Amino acid sequence: MGSCLRDGVISAADETMVHLCSGLSPRLFAKLVRQLRAEGADPALKGRPWGLGFAERVLLVTAYWRTNLTMRQLAVLFGTSKSAADRIIDDLGPKLALRPRKRFAPETVLIVDGTLVPAEELPLLHQPPGRQWMFRWEQSCALQRGQSLPPVADWSSRVRMARMPSDHENAAGLVDQTPTADYDGFAEAFAAENESSLLNAYYARPAILDLAGDVAGRRILDVGCGAGPIFEELRDRGAIVTGVDPSIKMLELARRRLGEDAALQQADLNDPLPFPDDAFDDVVACLVLHYLEDWTAPLAELRRVLVSGGRLIVAVHHPFVYKLSYPDRNYFSTHEYGLECDFSGQSVLLSQWHRPLQAVTGAFIEAGFRIAVVSEPPPAPGAHEKFPDDVKTPDSAFLCFLFLVLEAP
Ligand SMILES: C[S@@+](CC[C@H](N)C(=O)[O-])C[C@H]1O[C@@H](n2cnc3c(N)ncnc32)[C@H](O)[C@@H]1O
Repeated sequence: MGSCLRDGVISAADETMVHLCSGLSPRLFAKLVRQLRAEGADPALKGRPWGLGFAERVLLVTAYWRTNLTMRQLAVLFGTSKSAADRIIDDLGPKLALRPRKRFAPETVLIVDGTLVPAEELPLLHQPPGRQWMFRWEQSCALQRGQSLPPVADWSSRVRMARMPSDHENAAGLVDQTPTADYDGFAEAFAAENESSLLNAYYARPAILDLAGDVAGRRILDVGCGAGPIFEELRDRGAIVTGVDPSIKMLELARRRLGEDAALQQADLNDPLPFPDDAFDDVVACLVLHYLEDWTAPLAELRRVLVSGGRLIVAVHHPFVYKLSYPDRNYFSTHEYGLECDFSGQSVLLSQWHRPLQAVTGAFIEAGFRIAVVSEPPPAPGAHEKFPDDVKTPDSAFLCFLFLVLEAP
């Protein structure tokens, strides 16, 4: 692919690069450029204030929105300076009517070993049905950085590139989803994925159950219970379980799995919980808290419903994975981002809240909890046999979620 670069930089005359950077056919890209010109997006200015032709500037903007390339990488690839790339994106971005970048999903890694490569050409890739391109994040880390970094499992086990727009879609088709935390729209697809996926069935779930230990006779609240897989396992181990979730569809699936007698209620962690004080011995919050902007009131509620000495058992996105995945983003601030996931073939842009490690631990401490366990476990036995591409050896481990046990005083 490196040979496609003329004079070492990307040119809008290069049809392969046009397609790669914009997702559009050369014909459609040319039409977009013409249209933008007609709308006055390329005003005649003295000199060459941008140092790049108009078509290249448009291409740089689309590449910025389509890929995870940083401004610095784009500047090198287009043969311009970072500050010029910055100004170009500021100037042309709004004219292309693209949403602010913070709302855009993380996309595929296009730089591998320093070479711009379309994801579909990598032998490591899965080519799923349709026109989706996928890239295995663990392998991307290995390719880019050698073995010096710990492998990182992507949160959806894959980082997905934005769907390639077809010829009848326009550039706006690159960013046409708003991040959501409402599972109603993809409940079935998520539940099916969750049932047997590496990250749920062979990682998060067994790790939570390990941390819970012997739960016979314990009253446990499963918050964000989804379709109830953890509820079911805890109940099988003799716990008296109650599940809550804001998603009616997830609760319907949980009801189907757990039966009419199961204690299931609709509840959102942003609101007060419908339970009296000291109602539970344990609370399980598996992959739920990262949907919440502010943990203060939810943690106070969880503390309230726990007995003294009770445990809050948590799995959240490991904040280091965010930093490893998006080195250019601000690790230290708490902020929302879109996480593009593939659930059983359904593409979903999840709204997630990143918070640095100090904010994660600080929130629990401020809520009055004592941190009893911090865990970065390996996947469960059998993961290697089931997912040999992701879990290379029986004792492979990766960073993905952070597990904690918090004790209520
Ligand atoms: C990734 S799923 C995890 C499901 C289950 N805990 C598991 O590990 O299999 C996230 C769940 O959190 C729920 N959720 C999202 N926002 C929530 C909120 N504000 N309060 C409680 N649950 C929430 C979703 O509806 C979804 O069922």
